[in-house]
Amino acid sequence: MAGKKLSNQTAIVTGANSGIGEGVAISLGEAGANMVINYVANPDAANAVVEKIKSFGSNAIAVQADVSKEDQVISMFQQTVQQFGTVDILVNNAGLQRDAKFHEMTLAQWQLVIDINLTGQFLCAREAIREFLRRGIVPERSVACGKIICMSSVHELIPWSGHANYATSKGGIKMLMQSMAQEYGREKIRVNSICPGAIKTPINKTAWETPEAYNSLMTLIPYDRIGVPEDIGKLAVFLASDDSDYITGASIFIDGGMTVFEGFATGG
Ligand code: BGC
Repeated sequence: MAGKKLSNQTAIVTGANSGIGEGVAISLGEAGANMVINYVANPDAANAVVEKIKSFGSNAIAVQADVSKEDQVISMFQQTVQQFGTVDILVNNAGLQRDAKFHEMTLAQWQLVIDINLTGQFLCAREAIREFLRRGIVPERSVACGKIICMSSVHELIPWSGHANYATSKGGIKMLMQSMAQEYGREKIRVNSICPGAIKTPINKTAWETPEAYNSLMTLIPYDRIGVPEDIGKLAVFLASDDSDYITGASIFIDGGMTVFEGFATGG
């Protein structure tokens, strides 16, 4: 796979068997990376992503692990190193929503979202950084020692009624990402966040599945279309490659303008 942007590099994408994770994994695989397709349930969907990536001529394996479980995360990294020798790129993508009015939110709903969305990113990033430091820079592959991309959200900035657990997890990811970027910049480890707005995936189906819902969603998006996983995939390839070598500690919003607060176009 010589000559492609991510040739000979190995990437783990968590939650890569659906939605944004699937789109990102396919884009990185198309760019030549060896891919680890992490999933927790639905192995058939993970294997379908593996097959698609192999059709581009890249290597891919599916690895089951719950990102909120330390032993499973450690085992996923061990399997990756065994298979491909090292890890160059981590995309901390796995995430979920358990929405509820704040006064009705159960501790279980709160805890699950924090465990998967935030603690899961900590556990995976820690293993990635341990492996980056062990391996050191390999100039033939990348000028950086390693790259971590955290999947955040516009909701690291925009508060979200009925989704306090989710918005809190994304706010936490912002500081996790920036603290890691600060701590490991001198080791040439780059850490950035992608902050998607509304992307057409199963997580937000109710926001786009009917014309009424879609039209209401569009009142929040000046660019007047919903995003697709490929939009995020292209940005992930850029952030994983040396094309973005001077970018670290950044939250990059990719939202059709959701964060320019469309409501103020006529109000305020
Ligand atoms: C959420 C989606 C939502 C989008 C914009 C994402 O982080 O997961 O459900 O549509 O933010 O509000």
